[in-house]
Amino acid sequence: MIRIAHISDVHLGPLPPVKASEMNSKRLVGYNSWMFRRRGIHDPAITAEIVRDIKAARPDHLMVTGDLVNIALKREFINGASWLQHAGSPEWISFVPGNHDAYVPVAWEDGLGLWGDYMTGDLAVPGARPTDSVAMAFPYVRQRRNIALIGVTTGIPTRPGRATGTLGPAQLEALASTLSNLRQRGFFRLLMIHHPPLPGLAKQRKALTDAAELAGILQDEGCDLVVHGHNHTAMRHKLASRHGTVHVIGVPSASSNGARNTEPSAWNEYTIRRVSGQWQCTVNTRVWQAAQRAFVPQTSYSLEP
Ligand SMILES: [Fe+2]
Ligand SMILES: [Fe+2]
Repeated sequence: MIRIAHISDVHLGPLPPVKASEMNSKRLVGYNSWMFRRRGIHDPAITAEIVRDIKAARPDHLMVTGDLVNIALKREFINGASWLQHAGSPEWISFVPGNHDAYVPVAWEDGLGLWGDYMTGDLAVPGARPTDSVAMAFPYVRQRRNIALIGVTTGIPTRPGRATGTLGPAQLEALASTLSNLRQRGFFRLLMIHHPPLPGLAKQRKALTDAAELAGILQDEGCDLVVHGHNHTAMRHKLASRHGTVHVIGVPSASSNGARNTEPSAWNEYTIRRVSGQWQCTVNTRVWQAAQRAFVPQTSYSLEP
């Protein structure tokens, strides 16, 4: 048995001061969004409490599916590195980048490179290679007992007002062969992605541009579970594949207080077992309860094979 926690969209606050030399049209849109809307939603106290709540549950692993920061300032990446170190070791936490982590082009060593230890694989992935935004090999695969955690990156700089993501042909091709290989080796395959992975799950200006291609790969190769963030809402979808049902599950923003019609923070814990040659997976959701200033149990369900 293994227990794996999932959070997303931490959107660490408060936003550090922005130097004039760092401001551009894309960051200006994000800065205004933070000042006029997001800073009233993303509460650092909730971010601290969700880490405390997860650590108290002592899961075997924690998945963080992107949008750790907001407008990709150098200072935000430093803060993100501190946050990750406080949350847990790189062996215990797996991270994949979101659109806000690749908001504008940033030198690798000043940006995502500071979090690189949380995005390394321990199984060989033929065809994995760096992307334009990420100078390390994606997809990556980490083996935890008989679970394969597969990380892909969808974070790419986009023009102001857009929050799309893209996997790209190279990453898609490597993912397809990796899913096939891991299936044949009997792993429970758990895919971590920031953007919702199927067509129609996000508005066009926020969507994964190659969701149709990814859905085709998931249908052909199967995948036991896909976890994502980005929409800042709890989501549950299923996709029929040639190798069983693909469960697709998203979580709200880890720091959300629920203001302005947003969903309050929540995290999922997956308990995965192999029983009589079959995978069994149950999901427990804990949600932020403002009145108690604590996370409380919300739902519990099993994923059908
Ligand atoms: Fe987000
Ligand atoms: Fe996002």
